[in-house]
Amino acid sequence: MVCLGNICRSPIAEGIMKEKLRIHGLKGTIDSAGTASFHIGEPPDPRSIDIAKKNGIDISGQMARSFSDSDFGRFDLIFAMDKENFDNIRRISRSEEDKKKVYMILDNLFPDQQKEVPDPYYGGKDGFEKVFKLLDDGCEAIVSKLKK
Ligand code: 4NP
Repeated sequence: MVCLGNICRSPIAEGIMKEKLRIHGLKGTIDSAGTASFHIGEPPDPRSIDIAKKNGIDISGQMARSFSDSDFGRFDLIFAMDKENFDNIRRISRSEEDKKKVYMILDNLFPDQQKEVPDPYYGGKDGFEKVFKLLDDGCEAIVSKLKK
């Protein structure tokens, strides 16, 4: 799960996807990272921790890190929150194989629409509620596909 800072959107996505794997009885390694480095080592934004907690998910133990090209070797699927993240992830890919692992996280929910999870950092609390709902629906769509 990849966003810009790894403190708002992708930590929520990581928390939701881990919970969905648990609920659906699936196994997998889920992690998140940011394409920028300014928040490395920080916990998620308090607003992300709050909205996750309201929905029964504890993301407070996460710590921000940067996405690196070694992640292409560690993961089969890489989900970007927006087009800028998508382009930046692909830019550091090492091969065509790597590029094929990268998707927009809402693509299963809204096929062929290139829909983005909006960056909630500079907005209010309602932005985080909207982000949570989008990610919950988006991750559910991904899990349904993985189960097929
Ligand atoms: P995220 O949100 O990419 O969802 O973690 C942001 C966090 C921090 C900044 C921008 C977006 N920032 O500019 O510091």
